[in-house]
Amino acid sequence: MIKRLWALLGKSSKKPSNPKVFEKVPEHVAIIMDGNGRWAKTRGLPRTAGHHSGMKAVKRITMAADKLGIKYLTLYAFSTENWTRPKDEVDFLMKLPQQFIEIELDELIANNVQVRMMGHKEKLPAHTISPLEEAIVKTANNTGLVLNFALNYGSRKEMLEAVKDIASDVSRGELAIDEIDEKLMASRLHTSGMPDPDLLIRTSGELRLSNFMMWQLAYSELWFTDVYWPAFTEEHFHEAIHEYQRRVRRYGGL
Ligand code: FPP
Repeated sequence: MIKRLWALLGKSSKKPSNPKVFEKVPEHVAIIMDGNGRWAKTRGLPRTAGHHSGMKAVKRITMAADKLGIKYLTLYAFSTENWTRPKDEVDFLMKLPQQFIEIELDELIANNVQVRMMGHKEKLPAHTISPLEEAIVKTANNTGLVLNFALNYGSRKEMLEAVKDIASDVSRGELAIDEIDEKLMASRLHTSGMPDPDLLIRTSGELRLSNFMMWQLAYSELWFTDVYWPAFTEEHFHEAIHEYQRRVRRYGGL
C-alpha cells in the first residue's frame, strides 16, 4: 500500500523509465502472451526458442509491473486447448515453470513478489506443479506484486466447475437459489479474492480472448499490439499503461 502511494506520488525508489506511468496505475493487468512461435520462425529458430525467450519476457514484465506498483499480474502461460500441440512442444512448455522458478525465485522473493497459480491442476505433471507449489508456499507471506500464472487454464471449464459447485450446494440444501449472485459466482472462480483485471494486453496482433478470463474481463480495457511476446519490452508495457490511463471507464453508465 505504502509502495503504491509512493508510486502514485511518483516517489518510488525504483526509478521509472517514464514517470508519467505512475498516474492511475491499473491494479490488475492480465496478459495473453502470444507470438512465441512466430517470433522464433522469423529468426529461423525452433518454436521452443520462442517459448524460452517468452520466459525471459515474463521476468522483464513482472519486474516492470512491480516497479509501477501494479498489484496483480496474471499471465496466460498454458491453456486447456494447448494440449493439442505436438508432444515435444507441450513437454517443453511444461518444463518452463520449473526453469523460471529455479532462475528467478530468489529475486522474486527479494522483490516481495507473491507467486500464485490458477488453472486445472489435474493433468499437469509433477515437475510442473511441484516447483510452482513450492514457490507459492515460499512467497505466500509476501505483500508485493501477485504474479499469477494461468496454467492449464480455460475460462469455460472454470465457469462450468463453478456452476457445478454451486448446483451441488443447492442440491444438498446448503444454498438457496436466491443466494446465487455475481459475488457468489466470482467467489467460486479461480480468481476468488482477486479484483477483476483492469487491463487486458494481448500481443502478436491476434484480436481474441481465446478462452481467457471471460467472466473476469467483462469490464476490462483491452489493448492489443502486433509485437510478439518475446520482443515485448518494458517500453511496450508502458505504452499499454499510458493508453489505459487515457481511457474513460463507464461500466455501462454515462
Ligand atoms: C502462445 O504463443 C504462447 C504460449 C502458448 C505459451 C506461453 C508461454 C510463455 C510465454 C512462457 C511461460 C513462462 C513461464 C515461466 C510459465 P504461440 O506459441 O501460440 O505463438 P504463435 O501464435 O506465434 O505460434
